[in-house]
Amino acid sequence: MTILAESKQVMTLITGADKGIGYATAEALGKKGQFILVGARDQERGQKAVQKLAKAGAQAVFVQLDVTNKDQIKAAADRIKADYGYLNILINNAGIALGNHAPASKASTDSMRQEFDVNFFGLIDVTQAMLPLLEKGKPAKIINVSSNMGSLGLATDPSSRFYKVNSVGYQASKASVNFFTITLSKELTDEGITVNSVNPGWTATSFGGRPASAPKPAGMQDVATGAAQIIKLASAPLDDLQTGTFTENAGRLPW
Ligand SMILES: NC(=O)c1ccc[n+]([C@@H]2O[C@H](COP(=O)([O-])OP(=O)(O)OC[C@H]3O[C@@H](n4cnc5c(N)ncnc54)[C@H](OP(=O)(O)O)[C@@H]3O)[C@@H](O)[C@H]2O)c1
Repeated sequence: MTILAESKQVMTLITGADKGIGYATAEALGKKGQFILVGARDQERGQKAVQKLAKAGAQAVFVQLDVTNKDQIKAAADRIKADYGYLNILINNAGIALGNHAPASKASTDSMRQEFDVNFFGLIDVTQAMLPLLEKGKPAKIINVSSNMGSLGLATDPSSRFYKVNSVGYQASKASVNFFTITLSKELTDEGITVNSVNPGWTATSFGGRPASAPKPAGMQDVATGAAQIIKLASAPLDDLQTGTFTENAGRLPW
């Protein structure tokens, strides 16, 4: 059953919101009164997330959304348009890392293509499909969940712990997300829609195939900390002008 949002309620679509950082973001924003559209590719996991959100006191509905499936993206946009007519916040959170740490000279382009399909092309397809709804909901925000692994500045800084990281497909896909943030934010300047990239940091989710319940190694954050900067940007007033930035809990990151 569709729950109709009250007029002027902030409408927030989060991709990959059935678990991990996406779910934690959904719960925090839902508790703050935002109406959450839980984007998930798996119906059962998506519905379970909606039930858990309802128990936590958040208003939420499930939206089937595999970000690599253009028909599903169109159907999701059509449904949001028909049921609510607008969106205020799009959080592009869905992402994968296939754990390919082969040297760049040998890394498989098959796995890189899969990472790019979800992390980059999927994010762009969802954004383009949702832009007319964000236009209707202006002022509006697009938050792209990126990664410090995609920072060119850190990857080329010998004093950075990312200097020796070797995961070219995932890193390049997130660097590309950042480039999309930069170009789209400039295009939408003065349009009332901000676009920012966020790095959650190394976070205890099931990302990359890690069992979510496994003990946290030293330095790994809990999920609430990983979601905190996304929540901060999404909770700021809708007419907040911050755009074209790459930030984490500690502040700005080099692109
Ligand atoms: N965890 C970290 O250390 C870390 C660090 C930096 C950046 N990030 C970024 O944070 C974001 C969230 O990651 P997480 O740690 O929360 O990982 P996670 O627990 O594995 O969650 C990833 C989410 O993305 C969804 N997803 C994957 N492929 C999808 C597709 N084709 N269509 C729609 N949804 C899809 C997953 O859905 P299913 O449940 O169906 O698999 C899941 O909901 C990602 O963009 C990741 O790159 C994570």
